[in-house]
Parts: sequence; structure tokens; C-alpha cells
Amino acid sequence: MGNLRLGIAGLGTVGVGVVKLVESRQEAFINMFNKTAMITAVNARSKSRDRGVSLDKFEWFDDARELAKSSSIDVFVELIGGDEGIARESVTIALENGKHVVTANKALIAKHGVELAKIAEANNVALMFEAAVAGGIPIIRVMSQSVIANEITHIAGIMNGTCNYILTTMAKEGRDFKDVLAEAQAKGYAEADPTFDVGGIDTAHKLAILTSLAFGTEVDFDSIYIEGIEENTAEDIKNTDNLGFNIKLLGMALKTPNGIEQRVHPALVAKTSSIAAVDDVNNAVYIESKMLDGIMLEGKGAGEGPTASSVVGDILQILRGQIEPVFITPVAKLKPYEKARMNRHEGGYYIALNVKNKVGALAAISERMAEFDISIDSLIQQKDDGDDVVIPVTIITEETSESEIRAALKKIDNDGFLASHSRVIRIEKFA
Ligand SMILES: NC(=O)c1ccc[n+]([C@@H]2O[C@H](COP(=O)([O-])OP(=O)(O)OC[C@H]3O[C@@H](n4cnc5c(N)ncnc54)[C@H](OP(=O)(O)O)[C@@H]3O)[C@@H](O)[C@H]2O)c1
Repeated sequence: MGNLRLGIAGLGTVGVGVVKLVESRQEAFINMFNKTAMITAVNARSKSRDRGVSLDKFEWFDDARELAKSSSIDVFVELIGGDEGIARESVTIALENGKHVVTANKALIAKHGVELAKIAEANNVALMFEAAVAGGIPIIRVMSQSVIANEITHIAGIMNGTCNYILTTMAKEGRDFKDVLAEAQAKGYAEADPTFDVGGIDTAHKLAILTSLAFGTEVDFDSIYIEGIEENTAEDIKNTDNLGFNIKLLGMALKTPNGIEQRVHPALVAKTSSIAAVDDVNNAVYIESKMLDGIMLEGKGAGEGPTASSVVGDILQILRGQIEPVFITPVAKLKPYEKARMNRHEGGYYIALNVKNKVGALAAISERMAEFDISIDSLIQQKDDGDDVVIPVTIITEETSESEIRAALKKIDNDGFLASHSRVIRIEKFA
């Protein structure tokens, strides 16, 4: 293969980053590979918009679908976004026309990855998406080339910078979720519509991809159990901080005897674990495998530079001629995803209860826990606000099952001793 001709569709934050990086590294590419990857054509919505980079020497396309099948490119670089519409159509067209595709689009791969991988592999072209999972962190390369000899048993990631920033700020400043979210939006760290981020969906898109790579299963976004961070309170963060935990929004995939668990939810992690120390907008992915125990990669999960670095890394792998199966395992050999049901999940739990100050209330709660075989590791009566009417109580349980916790709390909620609904956060252990 000679020089690689790139067509870039989408010239926003990531697209412009890719243009700058490819243009500035030409000499290095030629030194390294004795050939280069060069941009020949570009596309976005607006031709006239000033993007702070010169596009004069590239052929302009008004329609990404035309660029996708143009004979002037070898690689279609999709940096538009969205799981349907123009992104899905143009990527499909590119693959069908024998073009390699590099994308940063996690939603597209999480929803249509298997279907697109089939087209890519049938046409002997690459479909690569390192930037789609944790931005600048080269997690897919590590999984496909370094950890590949090992059997992966557990993956956990902090993969949404907005959520991590909000949780870190809530913890540092003792402020509530809504207040910190509003500030993050004002600073441009959170979208005007933050649902995708704070609701855990963005993390789930990335997790769906990692699960397939780790376990050789078909990508199955719809099976992921998802809870966001909207219900986390400053009070829970303070209480759990005193107990030695930090709260993180984790995307997790684990092999269990019941199948593979895929879940996204706020989790308590021991302050002594390395994942607990991943703060602010940073991302991290932790992998546990049989021969390697735990390793963790941490870094920037978004932004022009980090994301462009991953996109161009993929392009250079194609330049080197390293065309591999899209999900490590050839798509025809991916196994159907076998879902472990959430109510069979086992772990420790933090439970926060606002108990009415009535005789027998605590005894009744303890009895309910015993009824469902839930062993209590600690039960702490927090200081009330001086009104003596409601007593905040926090409980840490020993390892138990989700179904027992849910059943016990349903009864406790109905027993009439609580001033408001119980709150629960799962505890995650790391080797
Ligand atoms: N930003 C990050 O840090 C980051 C990190 C990891 C992954 N990603 C992923 O990278 C992708 C791009 O993100 P971004 O942040 O660069 O987005 P962005 O700044 O919003 O840019 C999107 C680009 O797509 C173009 N576009 C929109 N509709 C189009 C259409 N119908 N035809 C052609 N072009 C169209 C826009 O054109 P105009 O400029 O003319 O409007 C714009 O240039 C997304 O899949 C995102 O999830 C982003």
C-alpha cells in the first residue's frame, strides 16, 4: 500500500483536531513509514464557516455520502456523530465501496457495530474506533494487542468526563448535583441537554463496545442496566467519604456464573483503590485478567487533542497495513451476548434511610434485613438536624444479592418508619 488518502467528514472539535495533527506530522509519518496519510477531501454542513484551519487544498464535498464513495479517498473518517442519519448512511456506503473507516462515534458503534463490522469484514476493510471509547486513552489497542493473550474477567471504566467532574466537585465542595451541573453547563463542561451524559447513556455506549472486545460477544447496548448520577446527594457523598469511599459513575462488565453483567451506575469505590483517585474530567479504564490481575489506564477522555490523537493512531495502523477484525474476534465468530440479570447481582450496598424518630423503628429495620438474610457490616445513626423528628441512618451491608436488597427495602419503605424513600449505592471491589 502506498500513501493513504483521507476524506474527513465532520469538521467540528475532533475533525479540526485531526486536520491539524495530520498536517503537522507529515514529515514524521514519512520518516516512520516511508509513506504517508494525507487529507485529500473534506465535508461538513457549512462550507463557509471559519474553522481556524486552512482547507483550501482539499476537495470539498457538500454531502458526506458522496465523499464516502469518492474515488479520491482510501479512508473515510467519520467525525459527524449520531447513531442514525448521515453518520450511519455514509459509513455504510464507505464500507460497501471498499473504503476503510475510522470514526469516533460511540453511539453508532454501540447501536450498529455488528452490522457495520459484517460489511467491513466482507469487504476486507478496516472499521476502527479507538477514539469512541475514553477519547485519548488507547484502551482498544491495549486490549487487542497487549492483553489479548489473557482471559479478561472484569472491566470497569470512568468514561464520562462530565459526570466525573460533577461528582468530584460535589465531593470537594459539598454541593448538590443540580447546583454543580448548572455551573458545569455555564463553563461548557456539560451540554445544554445533559441527559446523555448524566443519565449514563454515553458511558453505556462505550461499555457496550468494551464488553464485545473483552468477551468476544456481539455488541448489545440494549441489555445494559443503566442508572445515572442525578439522584446522588451531597449528603451521601459526605457519609460515604467518612466511611472511606468515593462515588464514581462506572461502566462495568463482568463474567459471572449467570452470564455477563453489563451495568452503568454510581458506585462506591474504596479511597485506597487507584480508580477512586481519578478526578475531575479525567477518564480511566481498569481491566482485570487471569494472568495480569488489574491494570488501569488513565487520561483525557475528550477534547480536540486527545481525541484526534486516537483517530490518527487508527489511521496510521491502516497505513501500516494492519487490518484486523473489527471486534478482535471475527464478526462471524462473536457469540450472542448472554445477559446476567441485574437482580442476581451480588455485592455490598450502602443504604441511606431517613428514619422517623419512633420507638422500635431501628429494631424493625434490622428485623427486615434479617428476614432477607442481609448481614449488616455497619449501621450508623447520623446526627440529626436538631429537630429530633427524623434520624438519618446509613447502613453498609455485607455481600448480598440485588433481589434481597430490593425486597427488603420495599418492605421497609412500606412499614411507615421512613420520612422519605430509601437511597442505595452499590459498592464495587477492585483487586
Ligand atoms: N468532542 C470530543 O471531545 C469527542 C470525544 C470523543 C468522541 N467524540 C465523537 O466525535 C464525533 C464528533 O464530535 P465533535 O465534538 O467533533 O462534534 P462537533 O464539534 O459538534 O462537530 C460535528 C461536525 O459534524 C458536522 N456535521 C453535522 N451534520 C452534518 C451533516 N449532515 N453532514 C456533514 N457534516 C455534518 C458539523 O458541520 P458544521 O461545522 O458545518 O456545522 C461539524 O463540523 C462524535 O461522534 C462524538 O461523539 C467527540
